[in-house]
Amino acid sequence: MPDDFDFIHQFIPGSSDRTLLLLHGTGGDENDLIPLGRELAPTAALLSPRGKVLENGYPRFFRRLAEGVFDLEDLKQRTDELADFVVAAAKHYHFDARQVVAVGYSNGANVAASVLLRRPGVLPSAILLRAMVPFIPKELPNLNGVRIWIGGGTNDTIIPRANTEHLVQMLTAAGAEVTARFFDAGHALTNTELVQVKRWLVALTL
Ligand code: MLT
Repeated sequence: MPDDFDFIHQFIPGSSDRTLLLLHGTGGDENDLIPLGRELAPTAALLSPRGKVLENGYPRFFRRLAEGVFDLEDLKQRTDELADFVVAAAKHYHFDARQVVAVGYSNGANVAASVLLRRPGVLPSAILLRAMVPFIPKELPNLNGVRIWIGGGTNDTIIPRANTEHLVQMLTAAGAEVTARFFDAGHALTNTELVQVKRWLVALTL
């Protein structure tokens, strides 16, 4: 197996062309978001890696120095590893890389945002649930044609609304088509939000 393929992960084949890349939050693993993925897109294939970093035993996709303060060197390396993994997985499992939709929650949403900013071309679409700016690129990438849905909680104490709005602004300036919604919620997701995500996903053509 190639080196790019060394994430512990689940792959569940689907019956449509679409693949959801499921990226869990801190303390989650490759099993966490499978039910959410099935609910959001019942016929899609699901690719769900486990973050390789451990923080007090809790898996994450990259290191942080404190809550909301990221280890940028580690983030860079982990972002590349994840991007390479997605490319390698498409070859290995024979799914269409142009039909991948990342679905990230919290730390998973932040690493997906980092892949969008650092490795444009890998993710044609993403759903970022409770995301913040992962890093500020020197130059914005070209994200023309990339479709992104972002959901924030107005009472989220971990991810301030202004930070999510900054991310929305950056991705929009890079050319992505961004739909951003804020809900009367905290860090946890709500049913109202998931109904909206599902509707967006059904209408999404890539
Ligand atoms: C992060 O570290 O990515 C964010 O603070 C979200 C979290 O995982 O708590």
